Amino acid sequence: MNQSGGRLRNRRIALGITGSIAAYKAVELLRMFQMEGADVRVLMTTSAVEFIGTLTVETLSRHPVDSDVLSLQGDGRIGHISAAHDVEAIVVAPATAHWLGTMANGLAGDTITAACLATSVPVVVAPAMDGGMYTHPATQANVAALVGFGYRIVEPESGPLASGLVGQGRLAALERIVNETVAALTGAPSPARGARPGPGPGTAVAAAAVPAGAPAVEPAPTPPSRSDLAGRHVVVTAGGTSEPIDPVRFIGNRSTGKMGIAIAEEALDRGAAVTLILGNVTVAPPENAHIAHAETAAQMQAALQALTPPEGPLFDILVMAAAVADFRPHSPSTKKVGRSGGMTLELDATPDLLAETVGRVEAATRKSGGRRPILVGFAAETGSFDRVSEKLRHKGVDLLVANDVDEPGSGFGTDTNKVTIFSIEGEQEQLPLLSKREVAELVLDRAVTRIARAAGGPAAGASAEPTAAETPESPESPESPAPVEPQS
Ligand code: CTP
Repeated sequence: MNQSGGRLRNRRIALGITGSIAAYKAVELLRMFQMEGADVRVLMTTSAVEFIGTLTVETLSRHPVDSDVLSLQGDGRIGHISAAHDVEAIVVAPATAHWLGTMANGLAGDTITAACLATSVPVVVAPAMDGGMYTHPATQANVAALVGFGYRIVEPESGPLASGLVGQGRLAALERIVNETVAALTGAPSPARGARPGPGPGTAVAAAAVPAGAPAVEPAPTPPSRSDLAGRHVVVTAGGTSEPIDPVRFIGNRSTGKMGIAIAEEALDRGAAVTLILGNVTVAPPENAHIAHAETAAQMQAALQALTPPEGPLFDILVMAAAVADFRPHSPSTKKVGRSGGMTLELDATPDLLAETVGRVEAATRKSGGRRPILVGFAAETGSFDRVSEKLRHKGVDLLVANDVDEPGSGFGTDTNKVTIFSIEGEQEQLPLLSKREVAELVLDRAVTRIARAAGGPAAGASAEPTAAETPESPESPESPAPVEPQS
């Protein structure tokens, strides 16, 4: 079955199959890996065995299936340990919500999680699940944790699901999973989401394991021009929230999300894994970011809470660029309100998500003993920056990026911005009118400098020690929304 000229010729891969209805697709995936030249051994959870049994995969792979975490091989070795050490990559497809939670917490109760814990080779994960499970903050937090481990996530696709519902949860096209595995084995940046582009620990082991004389796999895509965020998880909020009045109307704002998305793109290009908490935006987010949709302030709050568990923040940098609505209807109606009687709205102030997140980060960092992430906010002001220093102190951020929305080129939806970066040390750095991408670059430069300074390493622009290695992690990066965007 192995093909001589494939991109995975002579590569040894473990395919982990978990108990999703999409498990049947894993059989075809196994064949595709073989068509690329790989030798594939299969690990299965017990529920995956219930879905598709073992006979087909054993026959096709020509290896016994390992589905028992306590099983011994014929040579007396523990199955999942030998898989962990003998292969050059582990691919988990499909990965259920349950398995993502198990892996995020390091609970080695099944053979796939155990192998992933024991290995140092690249791990590629393709989630598949039904309904709203994938977008639930708990699942998103688990995915973020896996990104923090350096795993490559092949995002599920949107479409009809097995239950008859429509949503994001379909297993990614198998070609995408194969391509991601090829990229993992070459140490290339992940096309499916941010990943360590440099030779991380996993890829180094994989490279060492390549048999001498084996043909090279596909050339890696063009590497990022800088990699000073490799191994970091950056969380960025972008866009405006909309707060429902009834099922038809909402209170929104003019945020386009351009500034936040520019930060996410810049972070990805510099090697970070990026989680983008996305409100309403008018521009497409980068494909490589992990997207958590948050239409309302409450959803954004839930996403941020999931990324700051008490055990320690799951990111290295947070950039709050979103234009969070400042007010929301006190009692949104579940039915459309008729226009005949007019309408008087009672509004409540939304919580200050940034200040709240900073508080949780401080508490979690104290508890974990890890390094505190770098926290960046944005402030859209009109006329003067008199309030900015106080706002920075009140929110507790390291940096607050202020812009005057009255300034030409700094308004809503522009591709440019003129900002002043305020720091907790009291510095003010006034920048000229720049593209939002240039602003993003300079803001992330400042964040990298601060990380390096905290680690006692080289200053800005140079490669800093990954904080992800020092704290329980998941990627995150803050970003400034078009600072131009009002919050309500
Ligand atoms: N922000 C937030 N939660 C809110 C409002 C704002 O997290 N409910 C964040 C924004 O994402 C931004 C920062 O706080 O990073 C500053 O937003 P800004 O609107 O300038 O400040 P506010 O706290 O809303 O104060 P004010 O409306 O008085 O200017």
